Amino acid sequence: MIGWLRRMAATRRPLSQVSSDTGYQMWAPTYGDPPNTFQQLEHEALTTLLPPVHGCTVLDLGCGTGRTTTTLLDRGATLVVGIDRSRPMLRRAVDGGPRPAHWLQADAAAVPLADGVVDLVVCGLMLGHVEDLRRPIDEMARVLRPGGALVVSDFHPAATIRGWRRTVMDPVSGREHEFEQHAHLLSDYADAFARHGIAMEALREPSHEGQAVAFVLRARKPMDRPV
Ligand SMILES: C[S@@+](CC[C@H](N)C(=O)[O-])C[C@H]1O[C@@H](n2cnc3c(N)ncnc32)[C@H](O)[C@@H]1O
Repeated sequence: MIGWLRRMAATRRPLSQVSSDTGYQMWAPTYGDPPNTFQQLEHEALTTLLPPVHGCTVLDLGCGTGRTTTTLLDRGATLVVGIDRSRPMLRRAVDGGPRPAHWLQADAAAVPLADGVVDLVVCGLMLGHVEDLRRPIDEMARVLRPGGALVVSDFHPAATIRGWRRTVMDPVSGREHEFEQHAHLLSDYADAFARHGIAMEALREPSHEGQAVAFVLRARKPMDRPV
């Protein structure tokens, strides 16, 4: 087990599945407190791929408790908008201290921002919870200015295929549950980006015991795409 990942043995009784909303309601009070091994591996790779953010307006989509938002503000972003659909996760972000961020509760498939207003979109560990990648990626492309970058991370699809699952402990019953999860291949991301002329420019695949458990990619919207 690493962090909240568990390898499901063929002999093990399957865990009951919970939706993202139910799972994060259970996890919100303790999420990232302290960061688990998986979150540390992902965050290290994500911060390596972040472009310079000084003076930038950034959307942190699926911001959760604001783990990455803090890094973006520490690196000099002028404005960070954190969007998440989970109220309990956002509550922790809001209560987390006097950060000059803006928090909005919304779904990634309908981002409440105007076209072309952000310099960078960061989307950490969220898209595996979404069945159809295209709608959130369409929204990221829409709100991004021409020439802007996207940094996306998630649980590695190869890990899902190898039997690893994201799990969460219900603090009330003490029972462990498995998150509903969708294994999007890296080629699915490439295809969803290509609809907007967005090209991948860097990729990291952090490993644990020699096997990729996460991926982080950076991609860029072309300058000649109209807003
Ligand atoms: C693993 S947490 C990641 C939080 C943060 N990005 C981080 O790296 O710590 C995934 C977050 O994605 C959010 N999420 C899942 N599906 C979403 C959707 N369709 N729209 C917006 N947020 C979503 C969840 O509520 C949760 O807070």
